[in-house]
Amino acid sequence: MHKRTILRTVAAAALCAVGGLAAAQGTPFKIGLILPMTGQQATTGRQIEAAAKLWMAQNGDTVAGRKVQLILKDDTSLPDVTRRVAQELVVNDKVDVLAGFGITPSALAVAPIATQSKTPLVVMAAATSSITEASPYVVRTSFTLPQASVAMADWAPKNGIKSVVTLVSDYGPGLDAEKFFSDRFLFNGGKVVEKLRVPLRNPDFAPFLQKVRDLKPDAMFVFVPSGAGAAVMKQFGERGMDKAGIRLIGTGDVTDDDQLNDMGDVALGVVTSHHYSTAHPSAVNKKFVAEFQKANRNLRPNFMAVGGYDGMRVIYEALKKTGGKGGGDALLAGMKGQIFESPRGPAFVDAQTRDIVHNIYLRKVERKDGQLWNTEFDVIKDVKDPGKK
Ligand code: DHB
Repeated sequence: MHKRTILRTVAAAALCAVGGLAAAQGTPFKIGLILPMTGQQATTGRQIEAAAKLWMAQNGDTVAGRKVQLILKDDTSLPDVTRRVAQELVVNDKVDVLAGFGITPSALAVAPIATQSKTPLVVMAAATSSITEASPYVVRTSFTLPQASVAMADWAPKNGIKSVVTLVSDYGPGLDAEKFFSDRFLFNGGKVVEKLRVPLRNPDFAPFLQKVRDLKPDAMFVFVPSGAGAAVMKQFGERGMDKAGIRLIGTGDVTDDDQLNDMGDVALGVVTSHHYSTAHPSAVNKKFVAEFQKANRNLRPNFMAVGGYDGMRVIYEALKKTGGKGGGDALLAGMKGQIFESPRGPAFVDAQTRDIVHNIYLRKVERKDGQLWNTEFDVIKDVKDPGKK
């Protein structure tokens, strides 16, 4: 009697386990994609949403037998909203992965939720160095400002630029850009005349540009987030700063491919350092750009789109490695160390830091076939984030 009961219990438990597994395979694998779809950073949201959808159109919505579901939420780029939306996605929707994050404060707001719930958090846009240290569940496919800024600080003094005024957005990535550019530029014998910081929200660049004009450095080094570059460029031109012999240099955020074509002649010749240009001359990128533009009324993919596209790849590959089962820790393990060819060039998710390693290119704005492009002319290979200890 007793033995039979135990046997029956074991059999029931086994059935349950099988049933549980079947249920798990029946439930879709959910990616909670949190992006700024409205407000000041809306172009970032539009680019990443389009890229994630392109990835799914190209690679299907089933991975290792498991249906993948994308749940898109607009956080309007306000970190309090990002936090609330992430909480709802984890608790109510039971998402398997959190992804997106248009700006650094949004990514940082969600890091504790990722840690607590053991949910991988794939950062596709935000680029302050320290984000990956905010939670062991963060994996980044965008870039870091130190990667791009150091490259520019090495290039500038070899190209006639001895004095610089830095102009950055006054928050995480801007402070990273200012520090890593200035320290390296000084080390290389350059002089940083002044460091200017502009508010992130509703910036008025005019008084800052006037100040730079009065200081007459060889160049102004700029970091502004994606979407703000056109305003800086326009006012730089209107003040005649280029004609006054002040060069504009920066990380590639300022000559953002999303806006570059509308910037006009003032952008011609501007040199920036970055990990992605729409003009990157590889077969993988040409296919990416063509299919992205076809699916999005000719919109040019920018570096945000590439962060989103590669983020989807990293999630898909990790899910594949778990045989479709998922699970926070198993997914995280599957994300670490991935090596692949991105539209940006070769890329690698460093298993130690969970941060992206990629080439940084020096690019110059040129007109070709009636359009403006960030044309790559030099490369620094396999750049790790210099911000990591
Ligand atoms: C961040 C946002 C951007 O739009 C960008 O180009 C770089 C960094 C950020 O908030 O981390």
